[in-house]
Amino acid sequence: MGDLVRYELDGHLATITYDRPDALNAINAEMRRDLNEAFGRFRDEEEAWVAIVTGSGRAFCAGADLRGGGGSAGEFPGTFWEKPTANSFESGWEIFKPVIAAVNGLCLGYGLTLVTWCDFVIASDRAEFGFPEVRLGVPTIVGAIRLPQRINWQYAMEILLTGERFSAARAHEVGLVGWVVEHDRLMDEARALAQRLLAAAPLAARTVKEMAVRSRTLSDTEAIRFGETMRKVTGATEDAREGGLAFRERREPRWTGR
Ligand code: COA
Repeated sequence: MGDLVRYELDGHLATITYDRPDALNAINAEMRRDLNEAFGRFRDEEEAWVAIVTGSGRAFCAGADLRGGGGSAGEFPGTFWEKPTANSFESGWEIFKPVIAAVNGLCLGYGLTLVTWCDFVIASDRAEFGFPEVRLGVPTIVGAIRLPQRINWQYAMEILLTGERFSAARAHEVGLVGWVVEHDRLMDEARALAQRLLAAAPLAARTVKEMAVRSRTLSDTEAIRFGETMRKVTGATEDAREGGLAFRERREPRWTGR
């Protein structure tokens, strides 16, 4: 792992921290590589079942690095015509493990795009959000795709087309943030939510998230057929047997993730 993103695994909980506080965690080419490495590790590491993403210092992430240099969106091999569409978590990597954003401060541009891919958003009462791109003369693309899928159209358009910053309270009001908490309680609250998620069998939970994601673009019949196939796959795991056994023995299940 590089120097600009920290990845810590505590039991089954991974914490990914933007760690470039001097630049308000703005994303340059090096941080993009570190971020992709962290999310790739979370996706692939068997022991990691749930992740929290947060920022060090007073910001969550001030978006793309504007001091020049580029590279915040990562590398694209090939020419323009062969550009792949997904080369990071923010741009659409499939990760079916739950991800919690613990937004500790300013959350702009690319930082907010990442938040729109997280399943849960807990914000400090000091957090502030915004897509300033239109005020810089550039469009936000993935943000424009994702935000209207998460919140009411006119609030999404207000955020995307004005580029204004808005408070955690407003973010909660429009449904972008699930919980606003006292700044000093942020990580405790995020970890408490993570513990609730860790009570679930990890492979069953992954199947549920994958169903929720894929069924958005499938017909009902295809979604049900796919889901019934996934039910058989999940039912063949050690955890499915453990679930029934623990119920019969009246004890807490011991999930293995296998
Ligand atoms: N890219 C590169 N560096 C950034 C940055 C960015 N997006 N955002 C903040 N920084 C750096 C500043 O240059 C400054 O560095 P310095 O101390 O070496 O000069 C440091 O982070 C602190 O920022 P500063 O502007 O002094 O803090 P502030 O509290 O006065 O203002 C912001 C905070 C976020 C309002 C302001 O930094 C800003 O507008 N940043 C640009 C945000 C943006 O438009 N991002 C979207 C890109 S698509």
